[in-house]
Amino acid sequence: MTMKELKILLSNEKNTLALGKNISAHLVEGALIFLKGDLGTGKTTLARGLIMGLGYSGSVKSPTYTLIEQYEFDVFTLNHFDLYRFTDPNEWLTSGFQEYINDHDVSLIEWPEKASELLPKPDLEIKLSYKNESRIVHINSFTEKGHKCLANLS
Ligand SMILES: Nc1ncnc2c1ncn2[C@@H]1O[C@H](COP(=O)(O)OP(=O)(O)OP(=O)(O)O)[C@@H](O)[C@H]1O
Ligand SMILES: [Mg+2]
Repeated sequence: MTMKELKILLSNEKNTLALGKNISAHLVEGALIFLKGDLGTGKTTLARGLIMGLGYSGSVKSPTYTLIEQYEFDVFTLNHFDLYRFTDPNEWLTSGFQEYINDHDVSLIEWPEKASELLPKPDLEIKLSYKNESRIVHINSFTEKGHKCLANLS
């Protein structure tokens, strides 16, 4: 299966929120999305844009301490994980988090590297990096679901 890629300059926080909103409009059922990038590159900001784009109007908190925040929508639940505080990849198994990943609900995972190979293959991988005061984002798709979503973004 061929991998597709999209690269975008995000000049400011508003652009990151807007990208999240754009992705929310093209989400496919059961999407598994990895959010990668160094500390402070905007992973939670993008998740916030996506979750607000789905119609959530409360505050979208970073799951840094809780590890997971869940949002109930009419037809699915969105799981927002932040695995930064894992000290061992096996915490993915002992936490029971793998049970939240299924073909129906949407999952966003910040710091997926912390669970190493224990995570399933994502549909999309969104990688943020610093570019002066702005950010660059690379989006890759790894599945048919992901290709479909990515094709609609560009
Ligand atoms: N495109 C952008 N340009 C400049 N600043 C941005 C951009 N997108 C987000 N930011 C800012 O970057 C800061 C860090 O954002 P955020 O908390 O989303 O990062 P994070 O990647 O989730 O960090 P962590 O690894 O700690 O979870 C925030 O102040 C946010 O406003
Ligand atoms: Mg974060």
